[in-house]
Amino acid sequence: MRIYKAKNEEEMSRKAANIISAQIILKPDSVLGLATGSTPIGTYRQLIEWYEKGDLDFSQVTAVNLDEYQGLSAEHEQSYAYFMRKNLFDHVNIRADHTYIENGVAEDAAAECRRYTDLIKSLGGIDLQLLGIGANAHIGFNEPGEALEKDTHLVKLSERTIQANARFFTDADAVPKYAFTMGIKAIMQARCIVLLANGEAKADAMYECICGHITAMAPASLLQLHNNVFVVADEAALSKVEADADVEIL
Ligand code: GLP
Repeated sequence: MRIYKAKNEEEMSRKAANIISAQIILKPDSVLGLATGSTPIGTYRQLIEWYEKGDLDFSQVTAVNLDEYQGLSAEHEQSYAYFMRKNLFDHVNIRADHTYIENGVAEDAAAECRRYTDLIKSLGGIDLQLLGIGANAHIGFNEPGEALEKDTHLVKLSERTIQANARFFTDADAVPKYAFTMGIKAIMQARCIVLLANGEAKADAMYECICGHITAMAPASLLQLHNNVFVVADEAALSKVEADADVEIL
């Protein structure tokens, strides 16, 4: 893991956008695994700015998103499909038919999971996977538990995740209880992973991710086993990691 400390959210976003830009410039037909949540919004904003300046071209890029709430259609304002259009896709020249996300309203959930797993395989896997992190160290919607699912699956969201995401809905009751998520295998097989975190609320999760035991109880800890992970995080999110003398922070 290479860990980059940023002064604040803005610097985190710029550094992350630089890594993603380099990926797109070096491999214009990259398959990008993309994430939602509040953390990557600034990164997407920066990428849009560079696209508008003419520095970036998304015309050959494919995007495959991590997760989607079950029960929300792509038109629902809290769906992750809507989020991606609003925060990135509508503002750059990515082809709409090169953007993929689980169908939250698929009638047959098991078939949808198989379809998405096969899709990622048919794309040849993911070149760069962008990740946020949950306060309970979840990645995508791979929640802590006794075991992690390999492939795309439907997950029952933990109470903590529902509470954390309630800020985007009218109240916690309105948050869907289930979500589709890419499994841990597609994430871990990504050729490069960029994990972002900012704010004190992520400090414990970042400690578990970087310094903790590798355990399904902290899904982000598995990233310690991947040999091409860039962590870009602000000082607050790294505050507990910094106390560990064994960790090199760039
Ligand atoms: C959500 C998403 C994750 C995201 C995480 C953190 O539940 N499924 O992909 O990384 O929680 O969200 P935020 O960036 O808003 O803190």
